[in-house]
Amino acid sequence: CGIVGILGNHEVAPIILDALKRLEYRGYDSAGIATLNHGHMESRRAVGKLAALSDLLVQSPIRGHSGIGHTRWATHGAPTEINAHPHRAGSVAVVHNGIIENFREIRDELAAEGRSFASETDTEVVAQLAAHYIDRGLAPGDAAAATLSRLEGAFALCFLFEGEEDLMVAARAGSPLAIGHGDGEMFVGSDALALAPMTNRVTYLQEGDYAIIRRGGAVIHDAAGNRVTREMKTVSIDTVLVDKGNHKHFMAKEIHEQPTVVAYALGHYIDQARNLVAEAAMNVDFSRADRIVLVACGTGHYACHVAKYWFEQVARVPVEIDIASEFRYRDPVLTGREVAIFVSQSGETADTLAALRHARGRVGRAVSVVNVPESSIARESDVALPILAGAEISVASTKAFTCQLTVLASLAILAGRQRGTIDTAGEQELVRALSSAPGALARALAIEADIAPFSMELARARDVLFLGRGSMYPLALEGALKLKELSYIHAEGYASGELKHGPIALIDEDVPVIVLAPRDALFEKTVSNMQEVMARGGRIVLVTDAEGARQAGNEAWATLVMPDVHPFIAPLVYAVPAQLIAYYSAMAKGTDVDQPRNLAKSVTVE
Ligand code: G6P
Repeated sequence: CGIVGILGNHEVAPIILDALKRLEYRGYDSAGIATLNHGHMESRRAVGKLAALSDLLVQSPIRGHSGIGHTRWATHGAPTEINAHPHRAGSVAVVHNGIIENFREIRDELAAEGRSFASETDTEVVAQLAAHYIDRGLAPGDAAAATLSRLEGAFALCFLFEGEEDLMVAARAGSPLAIGHGDGEMFVGSDALALAPMTNRVTYLQEGDYAIIRRGGAVIHDAAGNRVTREMKTVSIDTVLVDKGNHKHFMAKEIHEQPTVVAYALGHYIDQARNLVAEAAMNVDFSRADRIVLVACGTGHYACHVAKYWFEQVARVPVEIDIASEFRYRDPVLTGREVAIFVSQSGETADTLAALRHARGRVGRAVSVVNVPESSIARESDVALPILAGAEISVASTKAFTCQLTVLASLAILAGRQRGTIDTAGEQELVRALSSAPGALARALAIEADIAPFSMELARARDVLFLGRGSMYPLALEGALKLKELSYIHAEGYASGELKHGPIALIDEDVPVIVLAPRDALFEKTVSNMQEVMARGGRIVLVTDAEGARQAGNEAWATLVMPDVHPFIAPLVYAVPAQLIAYYSAMAKGTDVDQPRNLAKSVTVE
């Protein structure tokens, strides 16, 4: 999941380990490093966290100024030492992200020629194929190029060769890879964050590119083998951003950053002097769109789900929301007049990228809403709108969600203006509401003190239901997702009105039901749904405002009182209790908050 390569002038093993630590946020279940010690290749691999690899390197150090390293999130084959990267065959070592789709075919061919395989992985096939070409007399760089021309799938690769102290080969096809330029040193990283302490001068490989890297520089070729020039950029990644500050976990830090980063995003998308949305910052024309299509995965998908309510209410335009992996393969009916919006924190999620590529040229305009401005999804869309959340390190997304909502709400208001469904006064009211979000988020964070104690109780549950109506329904889905991801408690989100059509069968005193319900036009109906639960012995946790709490009385098991907010921004503000409930339940259970098991921050496989 994370790749690092260094041709350096010092011992590289500790530097690679440090760089891999910066990639820890992506999630992984094994790790490894290979170096060249006077041309001789050595490697160490370990299952589990980087601490295990670090211990191994203390017991049994490896030396050398050239090396590659990797953190692996298992796709083909279990997280074992044998399956961990780097994979070696003959004089070749390889680290790899993504999936080689035709690996079985190549493996069968090589096996028929008598090569034997140590692991179950698709990656080993890459090392074996390169070793095979070297055995046939090709020079290492040519062997790597010949290997790459055989591979199908979505991947990023970095090769190191025994006896070749001044050579790495890096390739990108579907998974991102960056080359870092130092002074007499060169680096490879799966993102610029990994390279941040070493260099901020970065070249992003484009689709199909491969690079022959030596200490003096990199020679880049495109998929056809032609030499190409790719721009070198100076990236501004504030290294301070990857520090936990006073918080115990990145997740806590990122939850608490929300008032600041949402304000920052608003500064970009709102004309605060006139209380209007900043049309120029968005550069999207909704006036002739026949509908809006919103595509994303995971938490981003729930942001789209909220946006559906906003676009329909404010701009009276039909909206379809899709999970990225479904969008492409169900062959959606596209007219060429829709605005399609792709939402992704990382901008590298393979499913979302594939959906974007499917849509380009078939839809009217492909817009992306991303956190990483240099990402593939940002670069390949017609318009890329940054959410400006800053680096999000915790695997479970929090501040990216509220910043995605901020941008989507601004787009919905813009669509309303362009389609004439709201007048200036109406726009100003919504923009004022949106501008009050940072303050409301800050006040909402005060309920942390109330959430902590009851989350201890919640952590004992085996199943938890989340309910919401209207734009709170997607928040119920997001609350359930967060709880599942972090505390491994089974949780489901339902539209409050749907409870009686099935899930009510689950209700007993052991299944807590968390109701997200600000006092709004639908509140009375939600109270009726709560009564249905309580009549069956169910335990309600009501998350509402002061007026809602007063009306609901004190029958609930627990009531969390939120600040009063304009209904338009309630989905942003109610994200806070959804996140904090999951966070404190995870703390109570003692799970790995920032890197929950089996999850990855950026999933670059389909
Ligand atoms: C992974 C992460 C989720 C995230 C989803 C989509 O599954 O664990 O937190 O919501 O990917 O990621 P994206 O970067 O496209 O928003």
